Amino acid sequence: MGVPSLLLCRMSIALPLFVGAGACHHTDMHYETIAVDQPFAFNCSYPPITNGAASVRWYAASKIPVSKDIQHRIHQEQTWILFLPLNLGDSGIYYCVVKSSDSCYRIPMNLTVFVKHWCDTSRRTPENLPDEYQQILHMGKSGSLTCHLLFPDSLVLHSIKWYKGCKEIEPSGDQFNLQGQKLYVNNVSPEDKGNYACSVTLNHTGKQYKVLNSISVSIKRAGSGGRIPKIIYPENNSIEVKLGSPLIVDCKITDTKENTNLRCWRVNSTLVDDYYNNTKRIREGIETNVSFKDHIFYTVNITFLEVKMEDYGIPFVCHAGVSAAYVVLTLPAPDFRAYLIGGLITLAVLVVSVVCIYNNFKIDIVLWYRSALHSTRAIEDRKLYDAYVLYPKPQKESQNHDVATLVLKLLPEVLEKQCGYKLFIFGRDEFPGQAVANVIDENIKLCRRLIVIIVPESLSFGLLKNMSEEQIAVYNALIQDGMKVILIEMEEIEDYSTMPESIQYIRQKHGAIQWSGDFTEQSQCAKTKFWKKVRYHMPPRRYPPSSPVQLLRHTSCDCREGDTGLITH
Ligand SMILES: *[C@@H]1O[C@H](CO)[C@@H](O)[C@H](O)[C@H]1NC(C)=O
Ligand SMILES: *[C@@H]1O[C@H](CO)[C@@H](O)[C@H](O)[C@H]1NC(C)=O
Ligand SMILES: *[C@@H]1O[C@H](CO)[C@@H](O)[C@H](O)[C@H]1NC(C)=O
Ligand SMILES: *[C@@H]1O[C@H](CO)[C@@H](O)[C@H](O)[C@H]1NC(C)=O
Ligand SMILES: *[C@@H]1O[C@H](CO)[C@@H](O)[C@H](O)[C@H]1NC(C)=O
Ligand SMILES: *[C@@H]1O[C@H](CO)[C@@H](O)[C@H](O)[C@H]1NC(C)=O
Ligand SMILES: *[C@@H]1O[C@H](CO)[C@@H](O)[C@H](O)[C@H]1NC(C)=O
Ligand SMILES: *[C@@H]1O[C@H](CO)[C@@H](O)[C@H](O)[C@H]1NC(C)=O
Repeated sequence: MGVPSLLLCRMSIALPLFVGAGACHHTDMHYETIAVDQPFAFNCSYPPITNGAASVRWYAASKIPVSKDIQHRIHQEQTWILFLPLNLGDSGIYYCVVKSSDSCYRIPMNLTVFVKHWCDTSRRTPENLPDEYQQILHMGKSGSLTCHLLFPDSLVLHSIKWYKGCKEIEPSGDQFNLQGQKLYVNNVSPEDKGNYACSVTLNHTGKQYKVLNSISVSIKRAGSGGRIPKIIYPENNSIEVKLGSPLIVDCKITDTKENTNLRCWRVNSTLVDDYYNNTKRIREGIETNVSFKDHIFYTVNITFLEVKMEDYGIPFVCHAGVSAAYVVLTLPAPDFRAYLIGGLITLAVLVVSVVCIYNNFKIDIVLWYRSALHSTRAIEDRKLYDAYVLYPKPQKESQNHDVATLVLKLLPEVLEKQCGYKLFIFGRDEFPGQAVANVIDENIKLCRRLIVIIVPESLSFGLLKNMSEEQIAVYNALIQDGMKVILIEMEEIEDYSTMPESIQYIRQKHGAIQWSGDFTEQSQCAKTKFWKKVRYHMPPRRYPPSSPVQLLRHTSCDCREGDTGLITH
């Protein structure tokens, strides 16, 4: 009967406590071992929730909330619990409860208070006191020792003193300098090893308290263990990077665990963050590390938001203690193969277009060129005529009317009047009574070109074949050096095999010009396609029209070769 009622009674007592603190997550125990008669403060902190709006309450071992009255020896100030000073009986478990709107943590602290005999010659001070801090100085370098003082801001710290052994250090010397809570030790030597202490006076609500920190100092040789940090990358190499592009280069370092080297990127012996402190265009990244059994692997990057021209060629140096390695940015090498192929293609296109243009405008170009050089061309070759005109003699009026018109009217009109050439036309220019063979033979020698006009009619062929005049002329033209033959077909000739062999040969070698005009005024213009072709095969003009009357008559269509105007063929 009594047992359940007792249980019920216990539960009713326990319930409020449970609700007050018990619903919280329990975290790991903090252990604090502090010498008696000193002030002690401990901050209740449980990131991340204590960073936000959270309430903090300290409880003593007896589950009683710690007083917030700052006059009490043990009290809570903001998030701190303060002991001003510690008594031996304060050892025990304390905990703080951190509550935010959606979470709650219970953080316990095991405080052990002990008696310390500092510089008490009557008692031996044990080595490595529980509250002792361990610090390292590196031989041959300058180092510093720190007095660890964790107290809320409401406590005023002053009158810091340093001791080596039991002797106070005079900080004004060459060897020691004082700055804030640090003691600087210059040019560390093996004698600097030993037990140090720092003492600080605290002012709190008009009372003074003294804190004493013991520090055990050991000396390490520089590069102890024979290991210096090793920079794996960069390797004094260069990196090709385009102008204006971003760039990140990792510095990869392995170092021993005990080495506390500085790792950084420098340019021109200045930290990059300082060198580019205005633009922040180039920044050093945040160092990351991965721990291995006997070494640590560090990565610290350098970030170029945008590579500029001034960045090329100068070394960006990654430092890790005494080790250094640099990287140099270079502009990407131009792709010569691409340039070569591009150049060849351009050249090919150029050649093809020049050939096309030349083929299309060959005649115009030559005519223009001749006119441009006209004045300078006056070679004397002892020729009287520019061309000898050979044509089938009209037999039937109807058939050869066109030939006669072309030879006796258009040729003189265009080539002689408009272009100033001098022609020898058989049947117009020979003296009466001369023997035909003689006329041809003599005069053809005085001509620069032979114009042969051919017609497809079979009748004419027969005529042509039978006429010794033609044969002689063609023969002479062929054997005479430099004599060029201009074949003009009155109509398209489908079957050349019926032609004399000499004509076939000329046609094959030099081609023929086909009469394409009619007999209107328009066809009498030197600028038409047909006449341009003829003029092209004619020698450069030597006899410019001198009569102003002629010029006047033909202003719309004269043969000034520069005015040709380009036409395509
Ligand atoms: C003490 O803890 C609070 C959170 O509980 C934190 O905001 C504050 O910065 C801490 N103070 C020190 C000196 O660490
Ligand atoms: C507190 O720490 C002391 C010494 O470190 C230890 O003897 C004791 O058992 C601890 N108490 C608790 C409750 O953990
Ligand atoms: C500390 O308190 C003492 C006396 O209580 C006073 O003389 C001294 O000026 C105070 N020092 C500081 C830094 O407040
Ligand atoms: C590098 O620094 C030296 C002096 O420290 C200075 O004279 C020089 O102009 C700097 N070079 C560049 C490229 O900034
Ligand atoms: C950048 O650094 C130079 C020298 O290190 C200093 O003179 C200058 O004031 C700094 N500028 C800024 C914006 O911090
Ligand atoms: C470089 O460092 C920055 C800052 O530490 C970091 O945010 C970034 O991810 C790093 N970049 C690379 C490629 O490691
Ligand atoms: C490794 O990095 C962590 C944070 O990322 C840092 O707290 C720690 O001190 C670093 N370790 C060393 C040996 O630098
Ligand atoms: C890279 O250059 C630094 C000097 O900047 C030099 O100390 C180091 O030995 C060089 N490293 C290699 C691998 O050449």
